[in-house]
Amino acid sequence: MADNRPIGVFDSGLGGLTVLKELEKVLPNENIVYFGDTGRVPYGNRSNDTIIHYARQDENFLLSKNVKYIVAACGTVSSVAACTAKDLPVRFSGVVENSVKDAVDSTKNKRIGVIATSATIKNGSHKRLIKNYLPDAQVVDVSCPLFVPLVEEGWVSADDSVVLDTVKRYLKPIVDAKVDTLILGCTHYPVLEKAIKTVVGNDVCLINMGCSTANAVKKELEGLDMLRQERSKPTCEFYVSDVTEGFSKVAQILLGQGIENDKVNLVDISKYEGSINHN
Ligand code: DGL
Repeated sequence: MADNRPIGVFDSGLGGLTVLKELEKVLPNENIVYFGDTGRVPYGNRSNDTIIHYARQDENFLLSKNVKYIVAACGTVSSVAACTAKDLPVRFSGVVENSVKDAVDSTKNKRIGVIATSATIKNGSHKRLIKNYLPDAQVVDVSCPLFVPLVEEGWVSADDSVVLDTVKRYLKPIVDAKVDTLILGCTHYPVLEKAIKTVVGNDVCLINMGCSTANAVKKELEGLDMLRQERSKPTCEFYVSDVTEGFSKVAQILLGQGIENDKVNLVDISKYEGSINHN
């Protein structure tokens, strides 16, 4: 039976647009509701309790939009707040497990690198999961806190010495460990792909968590016969907790296309406390 309700996607801010982009590629007929917590971004340097609290509110907001599925398109939420999924009345996917599965499938030398925000690396979710699938894997994980502001500033070119020096400095342990597979464990990092490739070399397989997740969600919805069957043009609604100056520029960098300010709806996310009855 078809399920024509939208897929809900959320992130700490606009970074999740890199995941949305991949979802739209593989699920072009789905309606999507995107929530970016732009008023409280970044999550990546906050405490676990705060990240879990915010994630619950974000999920409650999406449930109020009658979504059939929730994608936590945020590396930090997927690592730290995956526990919130068990309380949801709809199916859920984070981005960690899907990317770990792809990394484990890809590696030949069993040396896998992970780069992400400080909260994600501190949590160690990637390392734990990789070891579950591949107990003798060597995992080198490094937090790269300057990558998010670099990307949001639009400093992403592999020809920019500031970008290249920053990438080189953070990725030295990854290069030294001779990994053959590197998980880009944060929403913003695919935008730095060229610079990262310049530093680690073209032979290292970069895992884009948006691609891994989009493929996994598609497979799950197909398997459950939950794809949208309506023929009308699908919609994508954008909601944020603050419309900041430069919103459109950052959206352009992350999504590859701008989103006009008048297409964006403002949400008071603090109202989405507690559980929502979804029946
Ligand atoms: N979206 C976050 C992530 O993927 C990066 C930005 C933040 O720190 O909130 O981890």
